[in-house]
Amino acid sequence: MCGIVGYLGSRDAASLLLKGLHRLEYRGYDSAGIALVSPAGKLNVYKCCGKVSNLEEFLDGKDISGTTGIAHTRWATHGVPDNTNAHPHLSQSGRLALVHNGIIENYRILKDALTESGFSFKSDTDSEVLVNLIEYIRDSSGCDLTEAVRLALRKVIGAYAIALVETGNPDRIIAARKSSPLVIGLGKDEYFLCSDAASIIEYTNDFVYVNDEEIAILERGKQLRTVTLDNEEGHIDIRKLELSISQLEKGGYPHFMLKEIHEQPRTINDCIRGRINQATGEVSLTGVLDNMDRFLNARRIIFVACGTSWHASLIGGYLIESLCRIPVDVEYASEFRYRNPVIYKDDIVVAVSQSGETADTLAAVSLACKAGAFVFGICNAVGSSIARATDSGAYIHVGPEIGVASTKAFTGQVTVMAMMALVIGRRKGTVSNEDYDIISRGLLELPEKMKEVLKVSERIADLAKIFTYAHNFIYLGRGYNYPTALEGALKLKEISYIHAEGYPAAEMKHGAIALIDAEMPTVVIATRDHTYDKTVSNIEEIRSRGGRIIAIVEQGDDKVSRIADHCIEVPPVPECLSPIIVSVPLQLLAYYIAVYKGRDVDQPRNLAKSVTVE
Ligand code: AGP
Repeated sequence: MCGIVGYLGSRDAASLLLKGLHRLEYRGYDSAGIALVSPAGKLNVYKCCGKVSNLEEFLDGKDISGTTGIAHTRWATHGVPDNTNAHPHLSQSGRLALVHNGIIENYRILKDALTESGFSFKSDTDSEVLVNLIEYIRDSSGCDLTEAVRLALRKVIGAYAIALVETGNPDRIIAARKSSPLVIGLGKDEYFLCSDAASIIEYTNDFVYVNDEEIAILERGKQLRTVTLDNEEGHIDIRKLELSISQLEKGGYPHFMLKEIHEQPRTINDCIRGRINQATGEVSLTGVLDNMDRFLNARRIIFVACGTSWHASLIGGYLIESLCRIPVDVEYASEFRYRNPVIYKDDIVVAVSQSGETADTLAAVSLACKAGAFVFGICNAVGSSIARATDSGAYIHVGPEIGVASTKAFTGQVTVMAMMALVIGRRKGTVSNEDYDIISRGLLELPEKMKEVLKVSERIADLAKIFTYAHNFIYLGRGYNYPTALEGALKLKEISYIHAEGYPAAEMKHGAIALIDAEMPTVVIATRDHTYDKTVSNIEEIRSRGGRIIAIVEQGDDKVSRIADHCIEVPPVPECLSPIIVSVPLQLLAYYIAVYKGRDVDQPRNLAKSVTVE
C-alpha cells in the first residue's frame, strides 16, 4: 500500500524524505515522488515510475533545496503506475501539492462537479481530485487552507491519509487521516510525518497518532495543533515508542506472513468495499457488468493460474458451475500454454495472479488472446503485466503481499470469484434470490467472521508444537474444501519443508489410505456441508488405522470432536464461502510449524514471490 513521509524543521528535507521512502519500500509500490518548498517558498515537485532509486537519479541536478517537504510511494489503486499518476499531485494552479494513501470512493462525483467548475485533470487518480477540491473550496470561499481541507474532507467518502504543502509557505504542512495510517514524530523544533513509525524511528521516539477524521497542522515554531472535521480542537496524546525498525516494518509482527494472515479481516473488507451494497446486499463488479453479454453467452470459462492462484481457481470453478451453470475448466497455466489447447472464440479465459507477473500465466493469457477468447484478469498488483494484457478484470485490493507464501491474496481471490458468480448468476437467473441473499450477506459478514477465526491463533501455535516431528502430512477435504485442502498442504510444504499432500477425502480409499499410520498426521476439513456425514466416515476410517487427526470443524460440532485427536473450530458461513474461513487455521498451522522448525518463513528456500521466469 502507499507510503507517506513528511518533514518540517532545519534539516535538509530531500535526503531525509528519500531515506524515509526507502524505509517504506517493504510495503510494496510502483512509483515514488517528492514535493519540496524552498526557503524562498518555491514549490518543486518531482516524481517517477518504478523504484525510489529512479527518483533519486531523476533528482540529480534539480533544485531540491528546502527544509520542508512531503514524499510518497504509490501502490496503484486508481490509474496505472506511471509518472502522471504518481504522487505528489499538484492542484490546477500549481500552488498546492498533495500526497494520499487510501481510496476515495466518491471521487467520480467530485471530479464531475469540479470539471463543471472549470477544473481539468492530468491523472486518473482520486488523489488529484482531492487536491483540486481543496483549491476550489479555498478560492471560492476565501477561507484559509486548513479550513478548506476540513470542508473538502467532509465531502469525501472513503479512506485517506494525506499531507499537503503550498507555494510560498515553507513553514507549514497540513495532514489528515481517516482509516489509513498516519503518525507524527515530534523532534526538537522539527516535525516528522509518516505512514508508519518505521520510516522515522531513528529521529525520535515521541509520536502522535493522528485520529480518524482529524486534521493536523504542523507549523514551524508552533505547537502541534489538531482539529476535527467538526471543527473542534483535537487532543494531542504523545506516545513513547520503543521498537526496532525491522519490527515496525512488520507492524510489530515477527514475520510479514503472520502480519498478512492477521490483516485478512481488513483486506476482505477492502476487497468487497464499494462492491456490495451494505443495505440491499446487491453485488456489483464493474469488469463483469461491463462485459455481461460475454459472460451470458460464454460457451465455457477456463481458469488459468499457478500455485495458490490455481487452488483459488478450482474454488472459482465450483462457484461458477454451481451458481451460473457455465461449464468450467481449471488449468495449470504452465500446462495450458504448451499443450495446444482447444480455445473457442466464445470461451472466456480467467487469468488469476496475485503478482500479475507470473510468466506461465502471462503466456497462457497471450495464447488465449491470440485464439480470440475474451480474457478476464483477477489480480492484486494494479497495472501489472497480466492486468494490462487482459480485456477486463477485477482487482482483489488486498495491498502488497510481501510474504512468499500467499495468504491474504488467496482469500481475496476467492472473495472476488464469489462476487463474480453472484453477479453472473443473478443476471442468468441461475441463482435463487434466497441463495443470492445468503451468500451476499455471508460475504458482508466475512470480516467479522475472520476476526473470530483468528482467535484460534494461540491454540494452533500450541498444536503446531506437537506436530513438528512429522515428515509427511495429508490434508483432506470435499467439495469446495477439496481445493482448500490442496492449499493447506501447499502452505505447509512451502514454508516448513515438510512433505504434504492434499486429497479429495473420498479418494483416500483408492490407494492413499495405505499411507496412514501414527507417524503421518491427517488434517481433515469437516465443516457442516452436504457431505459432512461422508467426511465423518473418512475420519473413522483413518482413526481405525491409527492415524492422528486434526479436524477443522464448525463451532459447536459434537460429532467429530469425539473421534478426532484435535479439533479447531471456525464460525459457520455459507458452504461456498467456507474456504475463506477454513484457510485461516491452515495458514496458521503451517506458519507455526515452520517457525518452530526455524524456517525462513517470509523467504523460504528456493522460492520467489513472483515466478517471472519459466
Ligand atoms: C503460493 O503460496 C506461492 N507463493 C506460489 O504458489 C504462487 O501462488 C504462484 O507462484 C502464483 O503466483 P501469482 O499468484 O503471483 O501468479
